[in-house]
Amino acid sequence: MNQAALHQLLMSRKQVTEITTEDPYYEQRLATNLSLISSLFFSLYPESNNAFKKLVSKLDELFKERPKVLKNLDLERLNAGNWYQSEQLVGMQLYVDRFAKDIPDLETKIPYFEKLGVNYLHLMPITTRPKGENDGGYAVNSYHEIDPKYGTKKDFERFTKKARSKNMLLMLDFVVNHTSDEFVWAKEAAAGNKEYQEYYYTFPNRAIPDQYEQTMPEIFPESAPGNFTYNEAMGSWVMTCFNKYQWDLNYKNPLVFIAMLDNLLKLANMGVDVVRFDALAFLWKKLGTQSQNLPEAHQLISLFRMCLQVIAPGVILLAEAIVAPKNILKYFGEDGLEGNECEVAYNASLMALLWNSVATTKTSLLHKSLMEIPSKPKNATWINYIRCHDDIGLGYDDEFIWAMDWDPYNHRKFLLEYYTSNLAWTPARGMMFMYNPKNGDGRITGSTASLLGLEKGIYENNHTIIKTAVSKILMLHGIILSYGGIPLIYAGDEIGTLNDYSFKDNDDYKDDSRWVNRPIQDWGVVKQLTKRDTYNSQIFNGLQKMIKLRKALPLLADTNNLFIHPSANPHIFVFERKGLKNSVWVFSNFDKNLQAISIAWLQSVGFNLENNKDLISDLMILPDAYNNMQIAPYQHLWIVTE
Ligand code: GLC
Repeated sequence: MNQAALHQLLMSRKQVTEITTEDPYYEQRLATNLSLISSLFFSLYPESNNAFKKLVSKLDELFKERPKVLKNLDLERLNAGNWYQSEQLVGMQLYVDRFAKDIPDLETKIPYFEKLGVNYLHLMPITTRPKGENDGGYAVNSYHEIDPKYGTKKDFERFTKKARSKNMLLMLDFVVNHTSDEFVWAKEAAAGNKEYQEYYYTFPNRAIPDQYEQTMPEIFPESAPGNFTYNEAMGSWVMTCFNKYQWDLNYKNPLVFIAMLDNLLKLANMGVDVVRFDALAFLWKKLGTQSQNLPEAHQLISLFRMCLQVIAPGVILLAEAIVAPKNILKYFGEDGLEGNECEVAYNASLMALLWNSVATTKTSLLHKSLMEIPSKPKNATWINYIRCHDDIGLGYDDEFIWAMDWDPYNHRKFLLEYYTSNLAWTPARGMMFMYNPKNGDGRITGSTASLLGLEKGIYENNHTIIKTAVSKILMLHGIILSYGGIPLIYAGDEIGTLNDYSFKDNDDYKDDSRWVNRPIQDWGVVKQLTKRDTYNSQIFNGLQKMIKLRKALPLLADTNNLFIHPSANPHIFVFERKGLKNSVWVFSNFDKNLQAISIAWLQSVGFNLENNKDLISDLMILPDAYNNMQIAPYQHLWIVTE
């Protein structure tokens, strides 16, 4: 039983649903979590008694600040239990200023979300940031002041109120690892204030930075090599793992933790339901290590979690840990922390493996890797996605690539070439991101549609390529809609948006090819959706239909009922969402040819083909003359069996 379950249990003893002057459960939650909070705190900050006292009074202060309407929602959520595992949730990720003009304009787009069936929005950073380069807002000048280009605090309040009234959830980023160099603490530090210099990793000379560099990898080796930047004003080196204007916070200082908890709550109090913990793998740095995924980082995240749970138990955390599969799971909390870290994590492994299957037409690496990942705790869930605003990293386990009889170096080289159009036959139109000639590492950028061939098809006016691309787009989305977890559609993908090459002419963006997949939403195309049968409308309608189906299938709620079957055909990915009486079976053919699975094999895994209808196409699926079930190229089936 994790801490959240304990709160639920204790709460059921006193039936108070409306907060009056004081929340009777606050004290109870504090008492329940305090021992865990103190053991986490003192293992990170031994001997810091004063800081601990400060933290406890901070909790009281922050609870008082929480708006009453959100306190009520917190109690509702606690009562409801694992609300985030529901099949009713369907998300979309977007840049407010690229999808709409600003926050008030975004409000006018709510009917569009409703039409598609989206009820969970991830708004990319909207708080103040430096002018010019700012990593798409991931260099923050404030954690809660809305950047005027998006609107005012009032606009945002109105938006969240409206979204809440429509049962729409909101996810915002908490850029927990770093601030911008214009953040008030960074400015103080640069001006010589010693107290704030200790909020960051600052060093008078290269001695320690050079030691760190020996083991810390580079995140942006092309545009921001190294992990330290010299600050003239301060006369010191400051740790900057990402870009030179993003200063890493020094969580070895307990005051940084307390101040960041304050920022976290201010963000949560803006009406945020899910907090995206950005780049959380980097939170703790240690000489002689990669300074990623360290045990102390997990303790720190759990400490944030346990404090947030006392103050705002309805708010949950999403781990943005784009790391090796076995490391991602650790962000749900393991051993003593199981269930007490993040409730949700990006399923980066599934995402990267799907792209591998598209390029190779095979599902064996996908299957092997997913089967080897230990199961997640039962209170946890995934964000399943295909594309987002970032690049696609080829984070596969080398051991599994070898098991396919592929050489990992050559295999990654093939994938990079396939997706960056370096092979004559590839339909993909992507770009290279952060290629490192020293080791051949590189990542891929590009929109879903362009990576799946739509751009090439349109350019060559080739209807077969276009049709194939549409099928692939729908198949990948069908997988994230049925896999188990919250599907997150990347805005623009619902209408097949292609790469946007205009970033090359923008000085602030040109060194970062991730901007090729951060397009401006084309509302002209949206207007035409119901008027003409185009590839855009086929994609939109296909998604709309699958979303509707998802919401009508309670088996698709993430109750840890996912069973991945080793397919008898190497091109077909088969999984089952199993219930007590019936199951939803999902089949996807990653090959350009028609593929078959034998009925005998299907029966051996418990699937009986008799009078089965594919819910997506509404067509009956019948055995062929050889007693096989046939699946068309890139066909994606959802079949309910009794
Ligand atoms: C996350 C964001 C990415 C950003 C990085 C640094 O990975 O998704 O866009 O560059 O954090 O904040």
